[in-house]
Amino acid sequence: MSRVAVFPGSFDPMTMAHLDVARRAASLFDRLVIGVLNNSRKRPVLTADDRVRLIGESVADFGANVSVEAFDGLTVEFARRSGAGFIVRGLRAVSDFEAELQMAHTNRKLALQVDTVFLMSALEFGYLSSTLAKEVAQFGGDVSGMVPPPVARALAAHFERD
Ligand code: PNS
Repeated sequence: MSRVAVFPGSFDPMTMAHLDVARRAASLFDRLVIGVLNNSRKRPVLTADDRVRLIGESVADFGANVSVEAFDGLTVEFARRSGAGFIVRGLRAVSDFEAELQMAHTNRKLALQVDTVFLMSALEFGYLSSTLAKEVAQFGGDVSGMVPPPVARALAAHFERD
């Protein structure tokens, strides 16, 4: 039986920490579907289409078992549609734990057949967040090393237009 996982997130934008988790998850599962939450209430800087495209470019060399798509609604429904039995999330520090625990329990309450699997973020990316990367980019700072190159270019273009 093939093991399928979804890796859901806002990815506004994808960071190197996300990319590292996606790379490791892709080697753990037969198929990995990266899900970009299309939620305008979170007022994302990048559109869902842009986020899907940029993640696609960033994971292009990961192999054919990785795909990217936008979703809205419940993550467990996205997992069901994808035929996934697992939700992958990255944990950076203890501060992530409480919210992630709550989400994992909520998702398990909603769908007993879907389990959440946590991967510890790589140590060198433990400080990173999408919010900080956006802030650095907004003020013209260098975000190379914080986000994949296609994302760095997109952020620069976005904030130049602003
Ligand atoms: O990258 P983020 O913002 O930490 O990702 C959060 C995300 C998208 C995984 C979470 O908000 C989510 O699952 N949203 C979909 C709605 C949902 O399923 N809510 C109930 C479970 S918490």
